[in-house]
Amino acid sequence: MKCKKCGEKASVNMRQHKLALCKEHYLEWVPEQTERFIKKYEMFTRDEKILVAVSGGKDSLALWDILHRLGYQADGLYLGLGIDGGIGYSHESQRLAQKFADERGLKLHVVDIEKEYGQPIPVLSEISHRGHGKPCAVCGLVKRHEMNRIARDLGYAVLATGHNLDDEAAVLFGNTLNWSSEYLLRQGPVLPSSDGLARKVKPLCRFYEREMTAYALARGIEYIYEECPYADGSQSIYYKELLNQLETTRPGAKLTFYLRFLEARKRGDLFIEQNIEHAHLHACPKCGQPTSTDDYCSFCRMIEKVNAVSAK
Ligand code: AMP
Ligand code: FES
Ligand code: ZN
Ligand code: ZN
Repeated sequence: MKCKKCGEKASVNMRQHKLALCKEHYLEWVPEQTERFIKKYEMFTRDEKILVAVSGGKDSLALWDILHRLGYQADGLYLGLGIDGGIGYSHESQRLAQKFADERGLKLHVVDIEKEYGQPIPVLSEISHRGHGKPCAVCGLVKRHEMNRIARDLGYAVLATGHNLDDEAAVLFGNTLNWSSEYLLRQGPVLPSSDGLARKVKPLCRFYEREMTAYALARGIEYIYEECPYADGSQSIYYKELLNQLETTRPGAKLTFYLRFLEARKRGDLFIEQNIEHAHLHACPKCGQPTSTDDYCSFCRMIEKVNAVSAK
């Protein structure tokens, strides 16, 4: 395999794009493509302040690296979830996120959930009895809520996450299996800001996971290899495996699945939006983020419950 640009030995072969590149040209191609996606989906401009949610994993650190290389104003946010799993998962991921920031002179905000709310994620999950014994549901709820709160509090125009194509295709697959029309209408590279919610963007949503691994390795980014210790056996991992099997026999299937979905929705083919009853959203009386109940939002109710139990 030869690099399509220079004819040297290729180090990355992307069957789905029928494109092979050497390391040097691959490191140019990834930011060029990202810039193209940022423009195409109107994610943000160079005048806007961006908050990148970094987990210490390859995708979010690669995203921060790319935005920095492209000259965007991007600061980082690390949420300390307090997950150990016998491997010091949170501790190690925080160390790597901090190291990345320090080496490049970038600003990283660190927010520790236990300090903010009295307990780490696994305990919040246990006490609030949500998520059938697994902390992932509470973890997702807390991450969404906190990323949004912090982006707003600190005055960032937009919140960027490192979700890649494998992540997005797995979510799309799950939402399609359930025909979750509300989720399908909201899933995409950009979620515009609305009352109480910051604009959210996923600049890597068209890159395969293996493309991001190749980028992080080629750039020499140190990241945490381990998955979250609770991720084992999760539905999203199962869907990713299914989609990978499909991809093996049909290169490009994952990308087509996702892109055709975006196109169909844009044309209005997917659902007649007017027919879908949008849940009436209210501002949570405690935190101000939108919720479909008249009461506190799920996050604030979860914290209330934890506080009530802890006070006993
Ligand atoms: P995940 O939900 O673990 O698949 O992560 C999806 C995205 O959420 C990552 O690419 C990050 O942008 C963000 N994220 C995950 N965990 C954290 C964390 N502990 N702190 C900040 N951002 C995170
Ligand atoms: Fe939150 Fe695993 S439970 S990252
Ligand atoms: Zn080359
Ligand atoms: Zn609330």
